[in-house]
Amino acid sequence: MNKMVVALTGATGLLGSNILFELLKRYEGSPGSLTIWVLGRAGKQLSLRERIRQLLANDGAHYLNMPDTAPLLECIRTVDCHLGQPNLGISEDSFRKMKKEPPHLFIHAAAALDFRDQAAVLDLLQKINVEGTQQALNLAEALGTPGFAMISTAYVCGIRSGVANPNFMPEDQLFRNPYERSKLDGERLVRRAEQEGRFRRVYFFRPTTICGRLIEHPVGYTPKFDVFYAWLAFFLRLKARQLGHMDYETPAKIDIRVALKPGSGLNIIPVDYAAKALVEISLQQPPSNAFHLASPYLTDNYEDLPALLKFINVHLPTFVEEMPPALNTLEYLYYHRSVGKIYDPYISKNVPDFSLDSLHQHLPTGFPKCPAVKGTVMTQLLKFAKKHDFGL
Ligand SMILES: NC(=O)c1ccc[n+]([C@@H]2O[C@H](COP(=O)([O-])OP(=O)(O)OC[C@H]3O[C@@H](n4cnc5c(N)ncnc54)[C@H](OP(=O)(O)O)[C@@H]3O)[C@@H](O)[C@H]2O)c1
Repeated sequence: MNKMVVALTGATGLLGSNILFELLKRYEGSPGSLTIWVLGRAGKQLSLRERIRQLLANDGAHYLNMPDTAPLLECIRTVDCHLGQPNLGISEDSFRKMKKEPPHLFIHAAAALDFRDQAAVLDLLQKINVEGTQQALNLAEALGTPGFAMISTAYVCGIRSGVANPNFMPEDQLFRNPYERSKLDGERLVRRAEQEGRFRRVYFFRPTTICGRLIEHPVGYTPKFDVFYAWLAFFLRLKARQLGHMDYETPAKIDIRVALKPGSGLNIIPVDYAAKALVEISLQQPPSNAFHLASPYLTDNYEDLPALLKFINVHLPTFVEEMPPALNTLEYLYYHRSVGKIYDPYISKNVPDFSLDSLHQHLPTGFPKCPAVKGTVMTQLLKFAKKHDFGL
């Protein structure tokens, strides 16, 4: 196996950690063939290296089915970095070390995932998702990295219906939130670098909504409970308020008319499938291209979302197609003050048909199939979330 050197941002996050494990899995049995530069932040109490050590010892041990992950640290070099700071806040000493073993591929997975529309959030998104991407590009170029992989989002195509190509760059589009726009702005910078020939290969990976694992162990695993988990947690919290305690079994009625677009749904992709597909394609080193990391299936608003509510024994009045004109107090809370404000645009609007042609062309025969997130599969995800009380 030829030696591979990869730089990875966002390795402490949901997708980035699975990319890290998948890279290690690919090179299992070929010690010395892989070096990973992990670019990230120290925690409040822990150094970046200690965070990575713990990540590998806990979650990584399951993914890799390896009781002792300590030897894996030998191929991992950690570098303190802060997106949004000049030169990513990387010390001259770290840069010199990286220059001695430069990456063949730079995977930029770190981002701020804040969907709120507030001045402070807008500043953060600009700093992390836009300026941070420019700094990642500058670093990769200064290191002479030939390949750059940008983790974007499928929703950069904006609110639209019909087929969306993963190379589609909207000009004048409505977005669900400023986060989506910031990811598009970040992607634009990478596309400009591609046009200027600053890299030999540039890949754009556009994931849809990411859920817990469904291929690797532990099934359902996710370190965070946002998107549809957070939507459900909102109703769980309201129910707990009603009953005076957290309770999954006792039925409760909550008087919120939730708007759901008929014939549409969420496109949900398991994090391990996304990581596997991304690593598979990146290591093939094909010519520059863009790929949706999306599911061929929709988690249907009317068929599948009610099962989520059933799982926590919450009963809502009938669903509606649009936010009702006159809102009761709970509805006001839902639509204007909490999860509805953030997730309503994802479930009350059409979802595009994310083209999977480029993805499927690059996945070899025998590559795992993307599980449909519905029915018993959805229940597996919810059972894991329940064990952790949806992060509440
Ligand atoms: N999750 C989804 O449903 C979804 C869907 C589509 C696209 N995406 C894209 O996929 C990528 C990964 O998302 P995710 O869900 O895995 O994110 P995540 O779990 O929130 O992790 C974000 C990562 O970025 C790092 N980061 C954030 N701000 C940073 C900063 N200022 N300096 C250095 N590192 C910083 C975090 O480090 P700390 O651990 O130190 O905070 C963490 O490692 C992102 O580009 C996101 O836009 C995600």
